[in-house]
Amino acid sequence: MDKYFSVAIDGPSGAGKSTIAKMCAEKLGFLYVDTGAIYRTVGLAAKRAGIASKDAEGVSALLPGLDITMCHDESGLQRMVLCGDDVTEEIRMPEVSIYASDVSAMPHVRAFLLEMQRGLAQTHNVIMDGRDIGTVVLPDAELKIFLTAQPEERAKRRYDELLIKGVKTTYEEVLKDIQYRDKNDSSRSSAPLKPAENAVMIDTTGNSLEESFRLICGIIEERMAK
Ligand code: DC
Repeated sequence: MDKYFSVAIDGPSGAGKSTIAKMCAEKLGFLYVDTGAIYRTVGLAAKRAGIASKDAEGVSALLPGLDITMCHDESGLQRMVLCGDDVTEEIRMPEVSIYASDVSAMPHVRAFLLEMQRGLAQTHNVIMDGRDIGTVVLPDAELKIFLTAQPEERAKRRYDELLIKGVKTTYEEVLKDIQYRDKNDSSRSSAPLKPAENAVMIDTTGNSLEESFRLICGIIEERMAK
């Protein structure tokens, strides 16, 4: 079997993981996998079914009938399809973020999505971002990066992104959402957000996107050359 190169990028919400991972994947010709989008799709499915975000039994009953697929368009953008419906934009809504964080704390949801994520790394060179990629999904990844930044700066970045998309919200609301998810994602017992032992730690507070991109792409290229 061919051996593919995997890069795991983990870290809290708004640290810049997806933007930077996408840019690096494009430059290096890797497949970019946004695993948060998969959890968001499960969260949206629960929301659409009228199940409360913390109702583990309700979500569990929903999983067997759940048809989630993922594809990449010509520009490399990952699109999420739920039961035939393209939900790529809808899963970015703030209320879906809370659902995603709550359902992602459920062990059966994590187990349900594990093989889908691993399968991609067995068939492609990947840059995969999430919360548990280096610790659980791809423990043998060639490179693991833990990306973070101060919560206030992450909230400001996320707020600016949402404004551009025309989503009505306030900075305070976005900061509250980030703080809620930081706590939820790192305190859960199933695959909590934490750096893998051998992760390269990067704090992007005060960095421009371009600076973080060059730094991380350089680290990946250096590791690939070894
Ligand atoms: O990366 P994101 O903000 O789009 O992720 C949405 C939620 O999904 C996040 O609050 C935590 C969860 N998640 C997870 O538990 N494990 C992953 N590998 C990716 C995301």
